[in-house]
Amino acid sequence: MDNVGPGPVGLASAKLAGGSRMKDDILPRPDLTYTPEVAAETAHLYERVSHIVPPVEWPFHAPYVAAINRVKKQRDAVILAHNYQTPEIYNCVADVVGDSLQLAKLAAKTSARIIVQGGVHFMAETSKLLSPEKMVLIPDLKAGCSLAESITGADVRRLREAYPGVPVVAYVNTSAEVKAEVDICCTSANAVHVVESLGVPRVLFVPDQYLAKYVQSQTKVEIIAWKGACEVHERFTGAELRAYRDADPSIKIIAHPECPPDVIAEADFTGSTAGMIDFAKAQHGGKVLLVTECSMADNVASSARDVEFVRPCNLCPHMKRITLPKILDSLLTLTHQVEIPDELAARARRSVERMVNLTQ
Ligand code: 13P
Ligand code: SF4
Repeated sequence: MDNVGPGPVGLASAKLAGGSRMKDDILPRPDLTYTPEVAAETAHLYERVSHIVPPVEWPFHAPYVAAINRVKKQRDAVILAHNYQTPEIYNCVADVVGDSLQLAKLAAKTSARIIVQGGVHFMAETSKLLSPEKMVLIPDLKAGCSLAESITGADVRRLREAYPGVPVVAYVNTSAEVKAEVDICCTSANAVHVVESLGVPRVLFVPDQYLAKYVQSQTKVEIIAWKGACEVHERFTGAELRAYRDADPSIKIIAHPECPPDVIAEADFTGSTAGMIDFAKAQHGGKVLLVTECSMADNVASSARDVEFVRPCNLCPHMKRITLPKILDSLLTLTHQVEIPDELAARARRSVERMVNLTQ
C-alpha cells in the first residue's frame, strides 16, 4: 500500500460551512430551574444514565433535557446523535443514535422538518446532502474532525492528475467539497465492500491512512492512501492493549479501524462504532475494552449491564463541543444552519448516494 499527501493539517474552523439563518421565529428561552415537575418529567430518562451521571449532577442536565424535548416537538425536529455523544445527549434527547452510516441513512428517511446533528460538521453536511429540503442544524460550527481537515478538494484533483483513471474512495469523514471530487464515499462499516464494488485493481483512498491499511489487510485491491489520521484513535498503542490483556487474558479487545495497525493486531474484533457496540453487547458476563472515544463505553453500558467495560479514554474534543445547552440554543434560534451551494451539493450527493445505494 502506498501513502500519498502531506498528512493532517491543523483544524481550520473558518473553513466550515454554515452559519446563516433561514427566516423563522426565534423562540423565547424557557425557565431552566430544576423544579419537582422537571424532576418528575425526566425521571424515566435519568434511569437510563444513572449508572454514569451521579444524582448530584442530574439537576443541571434535567431542565435542559425537559426543555429540548418540548422545543423539539414544537419545531418538528429530530436529533440525530452519533455514538460518541455524551450519555445525557445519547440517552435523553436523541431520537436516533448510530454510527455514521446509520445516521446518514436515517437522515434521508426522516419526515421531520428540522434535523439537529449531534455530531461533527461533516455529519451535518452529509445529512444536508441527503435531505436538501430540510433545515439541518449543527449546534457548534467548530465541531470539526482532524480527518476532514486533512484534505481539500484541490488535493483530490491533484491526486487524480498523479493517478489518472484510478477511482477515488473517500471516507465520509470529509467535507462536502472533497465528496464532490470523488467517485464514491464509504464509512468504517462498509469500506471493504465499497472498495471491492468498484471492480478495479487499485483505488485511491482518502483521507484516513489507518482505515486504508485496515482495508488493505482485507482485500487484494491495491490501496493508495492519503496520510490523514484521527487524532483520537492514532493515540492508542498495541503496547498498552497488551498490558491490559496480560492483566486479564479473558478480556475482549474491540477496536475501531481508525486505529493504527499494531492496535488492530491486538483486537479480537474490529468494526464501525455500531459494529463495536453489537460485539460488546454479545459478551454477556464478560469484560470488554473499547478502543475508541470515551463516551462509547458510557453509552453502551446502559443497555449492556451484564458486561464489564474497561475504559482507556481518549476524548474527541470536536464531538464534545456539542452539549445540551448548545442543542437547546440551536433549536430556539435555528442556528447554525448548514448550507451547501447547489452545484457542489449535487456532485457531493452523488458520491454519498452511490454508497448508500450499494449498502441498502
Ligand atoms: P463510525 O462511522 O464508525 O461511527 O465512525 C465515525 C467516526 O468519526 C469515528 O471516529
Ligand atoms: Fe474525527 Fe476522530 Fe473525532 Fe471521529 S473521533 S470525529 S474521526 S477526530
